[in-house]
Amino acid sequence: MANHSQIRDMNGPHPFTVKLLSWYENHARDLPWRAHPEPYATWLSEVILQQTRVDTGTAYWHRFLNAFPNVKVLASANSEDVMAQWKGLGYYSRARNLHAAAKAIVHDLDGQLPETAEGWKRLPGIGPYTAAAIASICHQEAVPVIDGNVQRVLSRLFNIDQPVDRKSGRVAIEAAADALVSSQNPGISNQAWMELGALVCKPKNPNCGQCPLHSECLSRAEGTTRDRPVKQPKKRPKDVMVNFDVKRRKIGSGPLEWWIERRPQKGIWGGLESFPLVMTETTTPPPQEDAIWGPVLHILTHMRMNAWFHFSEIQTSHDAGGEETEGLWVAVTDSHRTWPRLIDKVLMDLQNQAVKN
Ligand code: ADE
Repeated sequence: MANHSQIRDMNGPHPFTVKLLSWYENHARDLPWRAHPEPYATWLSEVILQQTRVDTGTAYWHRFLNAFPNVKVLASANSEDVMAQWKGLGYYSRARNLHAAAKAIVHDLDGQLPETAEGWKRLPGIGPYTAAAIASICHQEAVPVIDGNVQRVLSRLFNIDQPVDRKSGRVAIEAAADALVSSQNPGISNQAWMELGALVCKPKNPNCGQCPLHSECLSRAEGTTRDRPVKQPKKRPKDVMVNFDVKRRKIGSGPLEWWIERRPQKGIWGGLESFPLVMTETTTPPPQEDAIWGPVLHILTHMRMNAWFHFSEIQTSHDAGGEETEGLWVAVTDSHRTWPRLIDKVLMDLQNQAVKN
């Protein structure tokens, strides 16, 4: 029996896709992973682009690929080195999952990367969007890629008034995306839909005059483009307070050092290094002491964090943590730590302050 894409493409790709592809030929960005789509490099690019803009992402893509040029090298790397290459990109679970997936590929799949979206989805950190992107770009599987750009483009093109983050809206978008993917050229057509969202059908200022589908666009005809996509109201971010315990010591003529610990794998800043911390759901500041710095406001996707740093001087040549924790003394000048950006930011502020004083 013919599958959907074969039935769909008996008369060639959807007319919207035909128009889009000729626009893409002239307007596609020249991104380094597009020239020779190879699964490992494409996988890495798609994981980076899940939460990072193309300009920042491209530099990290080169850097990561240089450090870990193939899945075997990545699988045998140690996790600190993987985290160090990711430092500054945020959403560190992506790096942990990349590493875990590389190990699974080497140990369970004989080093062979999957060739289908279903196969990719079984690996850590790979959801339907990333799996479809890799399988369509590298293996010509006719599965649609639905990311934020595509959701926005299709909800406008078909004037979908159901929330795209609810079942009803998702089903409508999936039906549209499925009808539009080209079975001849799925990787290119998927990237072209994403590209239209990134370059023309932008969230705030859509450039409708430049759009190859402006005469087909239903939301444009109805004057609803700015109200699409419809989204469920966002939950208010949680207010939390984080108290960091910054212990410092100086032994003899050695360098000034501080005590840092590795965070548990699960939860905030999982697997990164940090000063020991206590997080509570409150907005009430801690009692004021002499050696305290704060509040530093740090906004994450789901929380508004007020951070306080409590400094203390320690006279010991021993570990400063409890028995359960893994930690070490590091020189305060050591800039090669894999800690949250918040800590980098604060250390920079403290340094600037010291210079001013
Ligand atoms: N965003 C994420 N992956 C992309 C791709 N392959 N092309 C365009 N935009 C993207």
